[in-house]
Amino acid sequence: MTHFLAQRQDLPHDGGTVRICQFTDCHLAGERGGRLLGMDTDHSMLAVIEQARRDGRRADLVVATGDLADGGAPAAYLRLQAALQAFCPRQFWLPGNHDDCAAMAAVPGSEELLCGDLRIGNWQILLLNSQIPGEIGGEIGADQLGALQRALQSAADDRLHTLVCLHHQPVPIGCDWLDEQRVADADALFAVVERFPGVKALLWGHVHQEVDRRRGDLRLLSSPSTCVQFAPGSEDFQADDQPPGYRWLELHEDGRLDTGVSRVQGVTFEVNLQQRGYLKH
Ligand SMILES: [Fe+2]
Repeated sequence: MTHFLAQRQDLPHDGGTVRICQFTDCHLAGERGGRLLGMDTDHSMLAVIEQARRDGRRADLVVATGDLADGGAPAAYLRLQAALQAFCPRQFWLPGNHDDCAAMAAVPGSEELLCGDLRIGNWQILLLNSQIPGEIGGEIGADQLGALQRALQSAADDRLHTLVCLHHQPVPIGCDWLDEQRVADADALFAVVERFPGVKALLWGHVHQEVDRRRGDLRLLSSPSTCVQFAPGSEDFQADDQPPGYRWLELHEDGRLDTGVSRVQGVTFEVNLQQRGYLKH
């Protein structure tokens, strides 16, 4: 499994709090205006970015945590890149089960976009690849776990705090149909992460809903999709009528973290709540 942890970037920062916006599960089609369960995913993504602007968010960087393109179309990645670029000059991506890693790597500037180990201010931000090509569920894999341990040791030596981002959920979130797809080797992931008290939070996409929990001192966070939402607590596939949204994070110098979710206000989105499946993986 390919991963991006070997690529490291030290980002300039003027000290103090590091501000991040997470946009996830955009599911853009090959053609502009493509729909997922009746929702125009370009329109909803742009509305979410506009909401972040209206919220007055000033982000040092944006993370996009997978399922960025619904079918891995090269044109979808270019539209995402342009839309995020207009909001924030620095964006970083990781793949979800719907993505095509080769198409992501073909995007201009992909060496920067697909960098897995970012250092900014007092923080390290890691972007993992939990995609198993051709499958819906997620896994980190032994190679990547080894690289994760090395990256975390290096950050610990530099006394940095760490935020770990990935696509699939590492814990069950209470939706049976989604929880079958959670990170298969999550126990091994936690065994590595929990060896390093500098790791403050795990942040993921995939579940198209908000989760904010704790596991010991570790914050566990997931976020709304920029398109269709999935209903919390559902045994089988069920879309939800909540509006699309994004997550903001403020990573403070001393390791504290403030975060929240903001959903689009004042826009009506079309979504087919009767559809009983998600069709593609
Ligand atoms: Fe998704």
